[in-house]
Amino acid sequence: MNILFLGDITGRSGRDAVSSTLAFLKEKYAINLTIANAENSAHGKGITTRIYNQLRNIGIDYFTMGNHTFSKSEIISHMEDFPRMVTPANHLIDMGDHYLIIDINGIRICLFNLLCEYGIPECDKPLFDCADELLEETEDLGVDIYICDLHGESTAEKRIFAEYYRNRIDVVLGTHTHVQTADECMLDNTAFITDVGMCGAIESIIGRDIDECIRNRIFHEKTRYTIADGKGMVCGVVLVIDDHNKKVVDIKRIRINA
Ligand code: FE2
Repeated sequence: MNILFLGDITGRSGRDAVSSTLAFLKEKYAINLTIANAENSAHGKGITTRIYNQLRNIGIDYFTMGNHTFSKSEIISHMEDFPRMVTPANHLIDMGDHYLIIDINGIRICLFNLLCEYGIPECDKPLFDCADELLEETEDLGVDIYICDLHGESTAEKRIFAEYYRNRIDVVLGTHTHVQTADECMLDNTAFITDVGMCGAIESIIGRDIDECIRNRIFHEKTRYTIADGKGMVCGVVLVIDDHNKKVVDIKRIRINA
């Protein structure tokens, strides 16, 4: 079995890039299950019901989020409209499902989402305590494969997490920086990458408008949060699962232009 995980879908460019390439990726890699980080899908911050449904309709099965999970208010008032989504278990807003059990091809997957502590002010609970609690809470649920979207700024923190949970959490996928790293590997039985990268505008500053970022950073102009438009790229990984022993055996990195 093969699982596709797509990095942070950012604004319209990201959504369009995923929409135009997903069928191709699914066929090429014989994908059985598609998961995407959607915390930047609604104009760079958060998600709306409309966009959630749009992403479901183009073929994404489940969603992870991040520090911007609750940036759009309608998710707070209509959490029930986002049933196939995990929210970070250590976000200061404690809402939504902190893990989901996904049964597919006789394999039980536990999908969850955590915020790193470094540089993420929305992180409200120590990362490692939170992961330990989640593993304990789910230990009797017959989970075959744990998949963690680890949303964080620090490359080292993500690798420390993966090493500490080596062979206990089966998949640790970094998100948030929007820059794909080339360090995908198997740490024994744990698939790891520091950052999956984003699905968003190629010509951008991690998805944002270049000119606006320059005006803000160099000339200290007060700016809106404008998402770059134009041609998008799709970054992700494919996780290869051995159906017999129900373990992850490989991680392949993907980056294509739409
Ligand atoms: Fe983020």
